[in-house]
Amino acid sequence: MSKPQLLLIGAGGHALSCIDVIEQDSRFSIIGLIGLPAEQGSQRLGYNVIGTDADLAALLATAAHALVTIGQIKSPALRIAMFERLQQLGFALPTIVSPHAYVSPHARLGVGTVVMHGAVVNAGAVVGDNCIINTRALVEHGASIGSHCHVATGALVNGDAAVGAGSFIGSGTVVREGIRIGKQCLIGMGQLVRADCADGSRVPAGKVAK
Ligand SMILES: CC(C)(COP(=O)(O)OP(=O)(O)OC[C@H]1O[C@@H](n2cnc3c(N)ncnc32)[C@H](O)[C@@H]1OP(=O)(O)O)[C@@H](O)C(=O)NCCC(=O)NCCS
Repeated sequence: MSKPQLLLIGAGGHALSCIDVIEQDSRFSIIGLIGLPAEQGSQRLGYNVIGTDADLAALLATAAHALVTIGQIKSPALRIAMFERLQQLGFALPTIVSPHAYVSPHARLGVGTVVMHGAVVNAGAVVGDNCIINTRALVEHGASIGSHCHVATGALVNGDAAVGAGSFIGSGTVVREGIRIGKQCLIGMGQLVRADCADGSRVPAGKVAK
């Protein structure tokens, strides 16, 4: 039986990592990528950039599934907008897990979320929709990650910690167990988060140019 076709939305660096995970997972066949007008006709790891977001409605006839493969650091806005648009158009948004990741059968993952190579989502953890749990990240037991979050490469979200929707946890950051991080927070790379962070927090404070 042929595999379902999957359309990737975003043709930047994060899309390359997603392609590798999707190929290893091997449940879907990648039909191509949606990119910027200037990227049309180019290739990513052998897959064509077949259109822009203006072509999404027409492409639904050939690919019923789509994944947001745009990266996310300073703002989740673009990933949220694309996720909502894909849902409105009627695309199915699969959950993708690398065969080289470990997701406990006692954990839950939302739709449109990708768990990359080497990541661990442990027992009792809950991850929302449209999240990136990036390469070698940890979401430890009982932790919760809201929708539209990016837990970047090698970040450690320890037991029972909670991260609000639309937040970014930078590469190599360690979030102490039980800590509450609010919505739309931007925690830079290499931080030690030992106190709760209110909605919209920037860590390190005042250092991040928007
Ligand atoms: C926080 C971040 C978004 C800030 O980026 P930016 O707005 O472009 O800011 P800059 O890199 O110009 O840094 C601005 C200032 O903040 C400091 N700074 C930035 N990030 C910092 C961090 N994580 N820890 C400590 N200081 C940091 C810089 O040294 C600089 O200080 P200065 O003004 O005294 O020289 C960025 O540094 C960061 O952490 N990005 C995430 C990287 C990452 O995790 N990638 C993962 C991809 S999977």
